[in-house]
Amino acid sequence: MSRKILVLPGDGIGPEITAEAVRVLEALNKEGLNLEITTGLLGGCAVDATGEPYPAETRAKAEAADAVLLGAVGGPQWDTLPREQRPERGLLGIRKHLNLFANLRPAILYPELANASSLKPEVVSGLDILIVRELTGDIYFGQPRGVEERDTEWGRQKVGFNTMVYAESEIRRIAHVAFQAAQKRGKKLCSVDKMNVLECTQFWRDIFEEVAKDYPDVTLSHMLVDNAAMQLVRAPKQFDVMVTGNMFGDILSDEASMLTGSIGMLPSASLDENNKGLYEPSHGSAPDIAGKGIANPLATILSAAMLLRYTFGLEAEAVRIENAVRMVLAQGYRTADIYEEGTRKVGTREMGDAVLAAL
Ligand code: NAI
Ligand code: MG
Repeated sequence: MSRKILVLPGDGIGPEITAEAVRVLEALNKEGLNLEITTGLLGGCAVDATGEPYPAETRAKAEAADAVLLGAVGGPQWDTLPREQRPERGLLGIRKHLNLFANLRPAILYPELANASSLKPEVVSGLDILIVRELTGDIYFGQPRGVEERDTEWGRQKVGFNTMVYAESEIRRIAHVAFQAAQKRGKKLCSVDKMNVLECTQFWRDIFEEVAKDYPDVTLSHMLVDNAAMQLVRAPKQFDVMVTGNMFGDILSDEASMLTGSIGMLPSASLDENNKGLYEPSHGSAPDIAGKGIANPLATILSAAMLLRYTFGLEAEAVRIENAVRMVLAQGYRTADIYEEGTRKVGTREMGDAVLAAL
């Protein structure tokens, strides 16, 4: 049975960085992984070709694929389009279409890049945490929402409101993803909530306690979100896997990613219930450096490693890619975004070559 991967290079630096990740996947494929790689259009390039950011042909390809590897979408040339035609709509469209409710974002500080972090080396060296963010529920989607005129204790006036909602099934499915991710790592899971104020998150905590019974090998702890924000900058290495709802996860995952200081190094995965997933670097399409051959392809290459791990269960192959990335950093290869004196500045293609050689 072949393993179907849809590659969506997207816009800006997208085609340059995904090309390197595809070369890595193809190199492993020579060893019999049976990967079947196709490509499609998403974002601004799709708008230019079809008038839509997530055209029907791409939808069909995404449905047929087991996993999607995405570069990035967007750029100034599409900023003036009406909202429905914007490249970002393509991204939201595919996430929703594939029901990708689990967003996984590792934050790893490679020892060679210790100076990139804004924190002291002793606080962050060796940092390796994974944030699991619920992506399709919470206050971002809850009803009712809006702005309307109401009677309040201060008189009749306009009121803005959103609703934090989580169904039991939504909490259970993200809990299973988080516990299983923790099983594959350090077996420590910290669930972040605000149960002292929000009933919805007390419910979240209760469900996590129940699901924990299925994973006796994982140690579950709980932390209030304000403390978690503080602990992430005070002593981030205390964490292994953190899991939280959509809004807290939005904020904490951005906070955690910056502990590593290097946007060009951060992969991500968004999974559905059957481990079908969309894998992409955390950064955008970097129009300022597009077409120059200098973008860092490592976040996308590391996203390909996540793809092998989470969609196909190819843990050994994923680790090989991650070790190859560590090796090229140790060898001193650096793209411009992570360059420091005394290291070896290379472009996108040369970085890909170095990773292939290390593999
Ligand atoms: P960005 O992440 O594209 O760029 C921010 C800065 O980081 C730029 O200076 C860029 O050159 C640099 N950078 C990003 N990735 C890099 C890499 N791999 N190697 C070296 N340097 C890198 O964010 P920005 O500038 O806010 O957005 C640019 C466009 O990307 C916008 O159209 C935005 O909507 C889109 N975007 C798309 C995302 C996606 O497809 N998931 C996510 C974020 C932004
Ligand atoms: Mg964010």
